[in-house]
Amino acid sequence: MKKITFMNFKGGVGKTTSVCTMAELLGLAGYHVLIIDLDPQSNTSRMFGIKEDIEELNYRNLFCEKMYSKKSMQEFVVKTDYANIHMLPSSEDMCDVIYKIYDGTKEKVKDKNDRIELTFSKNLKLVEDDYDYIFIDTSPFKTYLSYCAILASDKVVTPISLDNFSYEGVLKLADLIVELNTSFKKNTEFMGVFFTKIKSKTSNLFTGMSGSYQEQLDNLFIPIAIRDLIAVAEANTAFQPLFTYNRKCPALNDYIELLNYMDMIDNKHYKILKNLLVSKKGGDK
Ligand SMILES: Nc1ncnc2c1ncn2[C@@H]1O[C@H](COP(=O)(O)OP(=O)(O)OP(=O)(O)O)[C@@H](O)[C@H]1O
Ligand SMILES: [Mg+2]
Repeated sequence: MKKITFMNFKGGVGKTTSVCTMAELLGLAGYHVLIIDLDPQSNTSRMFGIKEDIEELNYRNLFCEKMYSKKSMQEFVVKTDYANIHMLPSSEDMCDVIYKIYDGTKEKVKDKNDRIELTFSKNLKLVEDDYDYIFIDTSPFKTYLSYCAILASDKVVTPISLDNFSYEGVLKLADLIVELNTSFKKNTEFMGVFFTKIKSKTSNLFTGMSGSYQEQLDNLFIPIAIRDLIAVAEANTAFQPLFTYNRKCPALNDYIELLNYMDMIDNKHYKILKNLLVSKKGGDK
């Protein structure tokens, strides 16, 4: 498990926050992470200091043309100032690319393996060995980019928030993944959902609701919740990843537990991260 898409066709549920925080933590623990920002809003790119004036990149090639050299794929990747984190930044061009992928789906292809929705997945393979994890942040809109993201991933995970959770929405996403797997002979796995922005883990509202979701969703329910904390919102407003903004924020601990639950860190790295939260170095806000 290495390439993970964060997806929910509802907005503001914590996709970007989760991608940025989990990537930052993995980078600090020593894992090499590539973040792919597929949301034209570019919030994730900005969080890691990528300015909009980055060199003009031809995003059409990334999604619509099979590349043959690692170098051409590396042109899309930018080193960030954050430990072990590389970024494939988003751009407004991505909105146009959606239509180009759509046009491409209408072209008659002899071989099913050549279908345009698989191009991004094939191109990503050229660089994937350079990373321990690849996180894909997506927009709340279901477009051809969503299909490309699912098809390029090993797993999809869905942050949800209590205020706008929809059981049907989760089942629809699970169905979409099955449909794409069948149609493209892939085996992307739906890992399930986890709660973000939880006011209190012990409130009757949360324990009651999470109990019933656990019952309904069974193994698609990840029993780790991320607390709603002002520092997280502030870090996002300041466009700084959470640990950099405030290493004492307890939501970092929630995200470490999530990484651990999802089997993304071993025991040694789990301890390294836990120790980072209590060490004295670094500024606090
Ligand atoms: N744990 C948290 N505590 C407090 N605020 C949070 C938390 N997680 C996210 N937020 C805030 O909620 C808002 C939405 O978060 P975020 O941008 O991560 O969601 P998203 O799913 O990526 O949204 P979009 O669908 O627009 O891409 C932001 O203002 C963010 O600061
Ligand atoms: Mg987002």
